[in-house]
Amino acid sequence: MNPTATGAPGLLLPTVALPPSFTWGVATSSYQIEGAVADDGRTPSIWDTFCRVPGAVVDGDNGDVACDHYHRMPQDVALIKSLGVDAYRFSVAWPRVQPGGRGPVNEAGLAFYDRLTDELLAAGIDPWVTLYHWDLPQELEDAGGWPNRDTAYRFADYSMLVFDRLSDRVDTWTTLNEPWCSAWLGYCVGVHAPGRRDFDAAISAVHHLLLGHGLATRRMQAAATRDMKFGITLNMGTADPATESPADRDAARRADGMGLRVYLDPLCKGEYPADMIEDLAARGSAFPVHDGDLEIISTPFDLLGVNFYFGQDFSGTDEQGNTHDADGHPIVRVVLPDRPRTAMDWPITPERFTQLLVRLHRDYPGLPLVVTENGAAFDDTADASGFVADDDRTAYLAEHIAAVAAAREQGADIQGYFAWSLMDNFEWAEGYAKRFGIVHVDYETQVRTPKQSALWFRDTIGRIRGA
Ligand code: FCB
Repeated sequence: MNPTATGAPGLLLPTVALPPSFTWGVATSSYQIEGAVADDGRTPSIWDTFCRVPGAVVDGDNGDVACDHYHRMPQDVALIKSLGVDAYRFSVAWPRVQPGGRGPVNEAGLAFYDRLTDELLAAGIDPWVTLYHWDLPQELEDAGGWPNRDTAYRFADYSMLVFDRLSDRVDTWTTLNEPWCSAWLGYCVGVHAPGRRDFDAAISAVHHLLLGHGLATRRMQAAATRDMKFGITLNMGTADPATESPADRDAARRADGMGLRVYLDPLCKGEYPADMIEDLAARGSAFPVHDGDLEIISTPFDLLGVNFYFGQDFSGTDEQGNTHDADGHPIVRVVLPDRPRTAMDWPITPERFTQLLVRLHRDYPGLPLVVTENGAAFDDTADASGFVADDDRTAYLAEHIAAVAAAREQGADIQGYFAWSLMDNFEWAEGYAKRFGIVHVDYETQVRTPKQSALWFRDTIGRIRGA
């Protein structure tokens, strides 16, 4: 910790009221930080494979070493403790716990999460487990991946291996992180693992991810011997029409449908949105629903994890004014709001965060919300000591925490906020080039140095709590 740094100017400290029970945390995921990809019996995930595809990841980066967290876990837990947070959201690597995605538990791999849980509890930090943050065992992809219905059942089996071991100490369980990314980026757009480009495969993946969530949730709930919280984390933006034209309004409807309602309607109401079913039918596609699936998917759950980075507008015409593409499908074109951008070229739109949270409260009432990810990449410059004076990231966090407080004032039941991310890490297709950490990582030496934003976050939590 840099002893002279005091965090950002007082003006950035939100003058917001968040209750003492509000959970403050930091988040990571297994493949992005752990490294040690062949240790203790771990076998390749789809990300290990994808990283080997020429051109798939910026600079040909991969997660072989990442932040070497697997070997540095105790120091990293001490670092988390130094930030003054209540909770740590991490994910479990399926191919560590159950290499190949089926069969018995790999004790040596599961032991890592056992030690991590104990280390966190000893440090007074609440462990929040995410069971799937995109590292599907490669063998399951070879058998068809998420478009294959069997993967949902494999996921539920794997979830129980983790649950059986950690549920005596872990209270908060998240099944999936951002199924939209798994389905669309992985199976339709192909920019994430496994890199497939098949619209119908993505539609099947959506359904089987949701089914896997429901199957795992039911089994964990049935096995729970005390009060626990079960949930799912979705990435959600806002989808506003770029103009009030009918074409733009329809594009925004489609984007909102495929981005948000296609998950939340089955989860909360037990049905896919009628307009999405119609849109799919118009292109000869459909969710592969079997009898009883929607009852399983809509198993009541306790917490909705919200990952928010930015809001988008949508246009129903391409740059030439066409309303349909060469295949005859309606155009749904992203138009980024005209705002300052982060290093990801994502616009900074905190007011849309409030808009999203209030809308979730309105459209899916009674569902407690937790912000499981929010943060920003900027082109950091570290000084000789490794310290980064990241005013930009600090301002981003301050504005978005204020946005959460504003949504709470409008009635939204938001119970916590996790900064993405604890430390710089492997940012998927962007490799190590994009830094989201509130702690700087020197990848040559693996030295971690809290950035100004980390000190500010720590101070803000203390200040809001009146410490
Ligand atoms: C989210 C992912 C997370 C990280 C952030 C920047 O979509 O869940 O792993 O990459 O984006």
